[in-house]
Amino acid sequence: FSSAPSLSLSLSLLVSATKMLPNSPPTALHINNVTSSSPISSLSTFSLYPSPLSSLYSSSSSSVSSLSIPSPLPQQHLSSLHVHGHTHLKTSPMRKGLKIMCSQSEPLKVMISGAPASGKGTQCEMIVQKFGLVHISTGDLLRYEVSAGTEIGNKAKEYMNAGRLVPDEIVTAMVTARLSQKDAKEKGWLLDGYPRSFVQAESLEKLKIRPDVYITLDVPDEILIDRCVGRRLDPVTRKIYHIKNFPPETEEIKARLVTRPDDTEEKVKSRLQIYKQNAEAILSTYSNILKKIDGNHAKEVIFEEIDTLLSQVQNEKVKATKLGKSALQSDFGNKESWRGIPTRLNNIPHSREIRKYFYDDVLQATQRAINAGKTLLKVEINIPELNPEMDVYRIGTLMELVRVLALSFADDGKRVKVCVQGSMGEGALAGMPLQLAGSRKILEFMDWGDYDAMGTFINIGSIGDKEVDEQDDMFILVAPQNAVGNCIIDDLRAMTDAAGNRPVILINPRLKDLPASSGIMQTMGRDKRLEYAASFENCYLFRLLYYAGTQYPIMGALRMSYPYRYEVYKRVDEHSGREKYVILSTFTKRPNGDEINNAFEGKTGNEVKASGIWGFLSSILG
Ligand code: AP5
Repeated sequence: FSSAPSLSLSLSLLVSATKMLPNSPPTALHINNVTSSSPISSLSTFSLYPSPLSSLYSSSSSSVSSLSIPSPLPQQHLSSLHVHGHTHLKTSPMRKGLKIMCSQSEPLKVMISGAPASGKGTQCEMIVQKFGLVHISTGDLLRYEVSAGTEIGNKAKEYMNAGRLVPDEIVTAMVTARLSQKDAKEKGWLLDGYPRSFVQAESLEKLKIRPDVYITLDVPDEILIDRCVGRRLDPVTRKIYHIKNFPPETEEIKARLVTRPDDTEEKVKSRLQIYKQNAEAILSTYSNILKKIDGNHAKEVIFEEIDTLLSQVQNEKVKATKLGKSALQSDFGNKESWRGIPTRLNNIPHSREIRKYFYDDVLQATQRAINAGKTLLKVEINIPELNPEMDVYRIGTLMELVRVLALSFADDGKRVKVCVQGSMGEGALAGMPLQLAGSRKILEFMDWGDYDAMGTFINIGSIGDKEVDEQDDMFILVAPQNAVGNCIIDDLRAMTDAAGNRPVILINPRLKDLPASSGIMQTMGRDKRLEYAASFENCYLFRLLYYAGTQYPIMGALRMSYPYRYEVYKRVDEHSGREKYVILSTFTKRPNGDEINNAFEGKTGNEVKASGIWGFLSSILG
């Protein structure tokens, strides 16, 4: 259970000189054989002039001063400094426009996608400003080619004006050439609008070009159309405006604004349809690094979420570099062995990478739910090592998950109480659920980091109102459960009443009544107990799907990460002997067995009752 060693980082503070360079001379890009069937082979036909076209969107930085963080500063504080810089740099006069770059790690590689007008370009401006990445927008690259009247531009124009995708070989060659340039390699890149089809995604996969994180912006259709139709571009600064949402600052700017030819309602609808047709296929390539972001908010609110996410990814990369272990990559890191949901989940014990993927997945969902003001939360994660029904259950994995959550919140300055229920019952009947035996001792002996978090920011407790102290900010309850003849719910209710509006997070609770040894179920007050148990909202759920009564083979998975939808995946064997998970369907509410069966059978709606080979699923999802 060792935690990552503490870091003493040398951070480079780049006083922001990140100004867009709108008037940099663009590179001339020539292509001789745009009809080549192989997108990669056509690369060789390019001739690229030194000044990259996308210097239009790259940033310059100057006056680098170096700040050495003294080694006693604990790791968690360092990561806070990095991830939540605003907290710790609050009083710094340099805060505004301050860029923190970690010179020791690989630069960030980010993909951003979303429907037309979902706000990719708008967010990219802000990301570039903060993170100094090289922005590569296929739309902008193509529009430049069109306006410059190049061969590529002339070919692309007809497709773009019709709202259709430009042929893969043209776009792929442009992108891969741009990605291979020095500035993109050194500063990191932000790929906007590519890949847009499964073939494009596969082209990058073949070249082993993978991002650290794949962001999608979700916006309802009707809003997208309004955003497109109202969009205006400044041809001088290349800034994006909207006639209502973001009107130009001056009359002078207003007079020179232009409308994109593909921004008519009719063309937007066609672009949207094409986007939807392709989106899911691409998601299956990147689902392990996928971060969906609600794009229907003010642009600053959206950026705040992206900023936190990217800072976290960057921080993870620094840690991995510092530890010198490529295997210890974050869930955002490149995975050679699997894409999407981790594969080979029936191989026990789970690899460290797989465990880390799930810990981080749970952490992000929980953080989002707490940031949204939720207080009664539950996490249900049933990978084999965390499924008490299986004989491969490992208490250590549960404890590690709890530690990741607790340390992360402590890192944000919260005082976290980690609670394990004590033994229940009296006399000869006293006992503790087997799943929890010894867990409190394990928690006490675990490594809680180098800055003495245990006893200050993290405390161990039990379940009940007496455990709630004034200084506690939140409570993590480790697998609270009813035992035969004993019910934890009254203690739990007393505890949540005492906690008031402080978050209480149940990790893998089991709150259903269990029948006594006589086979009799305690019925008095049962409805109330179940109602109370149901008042905890899922902020994370993951379970594997099997045939009823079996634990092999894995047929698929059900996942939900707050605030996003429940996702049903099917496990698919690939020719290479590898496997992957493909999204079949999504649901706003937890799907029942019939709905999952229908998703597997390719049926939509609830009109069809589960039957046939997938009928097995109903029995495990009641
Ligand atoms: P591209 O330029 O990439 O177009 P797109 O994907 O349709 O995206 P948009 O540029 O329309 O929108 P955006 O998400 O950047 O939104 P924006 O920030 O501007 O591609 C154009 C064409 O090129 C394609 O149709 C295709 O033909 C071709 N192409 C490109 N890549 C290709 C590829 N890989 N393969 C093949 N062909 C390819 O915002 C939109 C508006 O909303 C603005 O007015 C903005 O001010 C406003 N707005 C933004 N955020 C908010 C907010 N939070 N609240 C309110 N308003 C907002």
